[in-house]
Amino acid sequence: MHVIAHEAPTPGLPPGTLPATRLIEIDSPKPTAEQVLIKVEYAGVNRPDLLQRKGLYPPPPGASPYMGLEVSGTIASVGAGVTQWKVGDRVCALTPGGGYAEEVLTHAGHCMPIPGGLSMLQAAALPETYLTVWANLIERGALKSGETVLIHGGSSGIGVTAIQMAKWMQATVFTTVGSDEKARACAELGADVVMNYRTDDWANVVKEKTAGQGVNLILDMVGAAYMERNLRSLALEGRLVQIAFLTGSKTEIDWTPLMIKRLTFTGSTLRARSDEQKSRLVAALQQTIWPQLAKGALLPKIHSVFPLTEIDQAHALMESSAHVGKIMLKVSP
Ligand SMILES: NC(=O)c1ccc[n+]([C@@H]2O[C@H](COP(=O)([O-])OP(=O)(O)OC[C@H]3O[C@@H](n4cnc5c(N)ncnc54)[C@H](OP(=O)(O)O)[C@@H]3O)[C@@H](O)[C@H]2O)c1
Repeated sequence: MHVIAHEAPTPGLPPGTLPATRLIEIDSPKPTAEQVLIKVEYAGVNRPDLLQRKGLYPPPPGASPYMGLEVSGTIASVGAGVTQWKVGDRVCALTPGGGYAEEVLTHAGHCMPIPGGLSMLQAAALPETYLTVWANLIERGALKSGETVLIHGGSSGIGVTAIQMAKWMQATVFTTVGSDEKARACAELGADVVMNYRTDDWANVVKEKTAGQGVNLILDMVGAAYMERNLRSLALEGRLVQIAFLTGSKTEIDWTPLMIKRLTFTGSTLRARSDEQKSRLVAALQQTIWPQLAKGALLPKIHSVFPLTEIDQAHALMESSAHVGKIMLKVSP
């Protein structure tokens, strides 16, 4: 079977240069007792894939060395201990890596049925993004109906899902984006207050629109550059959930608001979780969000689809940040 491989970063190249990729042929992997082998139709592109390609996000021990964290496709074989899936079942799945391939192995508990009415393309856009948003906005962030939430990176794959899930939770949604076109897209998705961080002083807008109170929850991927303003923009007992550090993870700030406002600062990353934890999140998502998807709500927003062989173009688009929503790869047929 074929898989996209990437070279190790070459010393001496400017930081951030993407190492070369190529399609290689390898033996079809065999599932262990708890795994299934999926024949892939579509794979989702996620920002962590770019970090992995740059050598900044090594796969966890035992995981595939190749990129690709989510797929849709058909079960091609099952491990000896797998009872919930059979050959021929159509699924979407979180993978520990290796999704940019014709076939990929994953834990049986990390597969989900295709939600009613969704295409295989739409289904492949769900696992990594929806599980991340569920785990951080709903579980760690404990978003409640009637609260205010600030979602940074509103036009990202994560952001467009977080906006929709927060509206479904009946929260008031503030979001930041880098262009007016992205601002329009986020408003169409239901965001109540959209701020262009290049032209608006977003922390002041939050202060004004909340009558000086601040928001109850912030979902942040920006990190260092926003840390001081995030703390300033949280209400009493507010929560800050960190899912990435796009501008770095080191900064010097005054932490006093953490204590004075009794804030909670937390965060998490999906890939590092145990198989059991991922299976639990998968079950929670199926129980709560799958029925919504089947009703046509909370649908993934897909920006573009590239053939697997055009992975470099897909990654260049993600690096450019010109997209709104998900970038996808068509693998087969
Ligand atoms: N913790 C987890 O488990 C987990 C899982 C998946 C993804 N993530 C993280 O979540 C983030 C989004 O992932 P994705 O796959 O949805 O990526 P994506 O679609 O490429 O989104 C990244 C977004 O970040 C914004 N951005 C980039 N640089 C920025 C800056 N300096 N200041 C403000 N905004 C900036 C860009 O929007 P603008 O053009 O508007 O700036 C872009 O839309 C990534 O950082 C990824 O690593 C975390």
